[in-house]
Amino acid sequence: METAAYKKLSIADFRPEEHHLLGEGVWGQVYDLGDGTVLKLAKETSSGIGNGREKIEREYTALNSLAGASGIGSFLPRVVEWGDVPPNSDLARSGIALWLRSTKKEGDCLFVSEAKALPVEEQELIGHSIGKTLAHLHTAMASIPYGQGLNPGTLYSAIKEEVSGNPFYTKCIAILEEELALIPSDILNRAAHNDYNISNLLFSGHDVCAVLDFAEWGPCFPEKDVSDIVQECPFLTETLIEAYESVSAFKIDRRRLELGLAENALYGAVISERRGDAEEHRSERDKLCHHLKTLGYDISEPRLESTLNHHRL
Ligand SMILES: Nc1ncnc2c1ncn2[C@@H]1O[C@H](COP(=O)(O)OP(=O)(O)OP(=O)(O)O)[C@@H](O)[C@H]1O
Ligand SMILES: [Mg+2]
Repeated sequence: METAAYKKLSIADFRPEEHHLLGEGVWGQVYDLGDGTVLKLAKETSSGIGNGREKIEREYTALNSLAGASGIGSFLPRVVEWGDVPPNSDLARSGIALWLRSTKKEGDCLFVSEAKALPVEEQELIGHSIGKTLAHLHTAMASIPYGQGLNPGTLYSAIKEEVSGNPFYTKCIAILEEELALIPSDILNRAAHNDYNISNLLFSGHDVCAVLDFAEWGPCFPEKDVSDIVQECPFLTETLIEAYESVSAFKIDRRRLELGLAENALYGAVISERRGDAEEHRSERDKLCHHLKTLGYDISEPRLESTLNHHRL
């Protein structure tokens, strides 16, 4: 159906309690409006890294630019409407500032625990489809003016400021920056989804049929998107890489893949510390040490007292 065919939403009158909640994250919620569309609501600031306004704007740009892209356009939601939440509405009073309404994609969620329990032959089919889809996505994304995407440097400087008093994080960031500086710029600046994890994919059987959540897209090395799946589903690694390489003709570099895993662990450690989740914080710091060690850097065991500078990014 053409997006113009949907009845306009009166966002000021939207009542969350009347709709099915599809997902909830640190930035807000996603509701099924029951008419073939979904509504994403976002706060301007949260405990996550970045800014809610920029996230919604980036998502709009990506979905709009990729609609109709060959090989991937039909996998993506179409934007129906989006904008600011009116300041005097109940939504605004609950902290929500932005909204984006898009078409609902059919398909099933796949949970990591389910994927892990499947027979190897089925895991291989899934890994293959995830890799092939990522290759098509990267090809299509190359046509978006990536100046409108998330600049990874912004994330680093925001995190750096927050952890400036902490020698462990400072050292880790310096290593990651050093490694990033070694990547040729034509690889470092390819357009990436930047949140290509299993919760942002929908499946029909063993095949990916939808890719969601473009709030973080921007220039990055291709292995970063591979690392998001590898981190949560290491058992999909080899089939995913094989399919990605055969469709894209781009060779995945294992060192850059490790770098992607280390970056993920760094963000995970900072965010879990902000949220006061001690167990996750410990686990993410351990992972960060492990990935840096694999890259050849021996980082001594971190102390665990809270060391963040407590201001919002
Ligand atoms: N267009 C869509 N069609 C079908 N399901 C959707 C759609 N958009 C979102 N969903 C469902 O809602 C969940 C949350 O949506 P999404 O991933 O976009 O937001 P989020 O992860 O909460 O947000 P963000 O990472 O931007 O803070 C998805 O994992 C998916 O299950
Ligand atoms: Mg998501």
